[in-house]
Amino acid sequence: MDAISYLNRRGKLQDYFDRTANDAWAKLTSDAPVSGIRATVRAGRDQMRNNIISRLPEDLSGKRVLDAGCGTGALALELANRGAFVTAVDLSPNLIELAKSRIPESDRQNIEFHAGDMLDEAYGDFDYVIGMDSMIHYCAKDMLVVLEKLAPRVNQKILFTFAPSTIPLELMIRVGRLFPRRDRAPFIEPISQMKLQKSIDQSPWFVDWEAPFTQLVSSGFYKSQLLELQKRS
Ligand SMILES: C[S@@+](CC[C@H](N)C(=O)[O-])C[C@H]1O[C@@H](n2cnc3c(N)ncnc32)[C@H](O)[C@@H]1O
Repeated sequence: MDAISYLNRRGKLQDYFDRTANDAWAKLTSDAPVSGIRATVRAGRDQMRNNIISRLPEDLSGKRVLDAGCGTGALALELANRGAFVTAVDLSPNLIELAKSRIPESDRQNIEFHAGDMLDEAYGDFDYVIGMDSMIHYCAKDMLVVLEKLAPRVNQKILFTFAPSTIPLELMIRVGRLFPRRDRAPFIEPISQMKLQKSIDQSPWFVDWEAPFTQLVSSGFYKSQLLELQKRS
């Protein structure tokens, strides 16, 4: 991994999610009214969460799941409700505290929250790893190595999202860069699906894996593509 580029971006993301946009993120992930644009993002994210959940078994009893970059914990709760033991990790200690405060203690027994790096090997091995919109700010090279670092610790599937490189998305990001705002997200890195798939296919860490499923969610300003990587049995 280009450790410097990963650590550099990770530092910016921690600062952004823990401070700059903590309130905006808390609001977006709640039922509070939001602007029309953010409402499309919220709807798209709800759709993506459902799509991810639908790619997992109904009964996750006894399964260990890493919610990598868990944010305010909505997905972690759904996974725990299906019986999984969830390790929910996020760079932002404030988001982790918010996640804990949103989930009643009785529902939290199967969830371990940690403020830290999702790549930390101390969290152990998993049946499933989910990275919902938590890798979209890393460049293609770093995203691949994040996946390569996770792969040896996963028994079944990695489900993660990326921002597919399309002309409208590139334009949206470029226009966004012209209008800096205090709580705007660090740049999303659009990724070519073909190139990503090719680099996964060529990676020595993924020789025993296949990619059986992908799905785009496009809702107003939210464009995110789910990719499922599955270990061959
Ligand atoms: C766009 S938010 C998505 C949060 C959550 N997955 C969701 O969909 O609601 C991205 C999250 O990924 C977290 N993140 C990014 N890089 C991370 C890393 N290396 N380790 C842990 N968390 C990370 C950020 O702190 C942020 O909370």
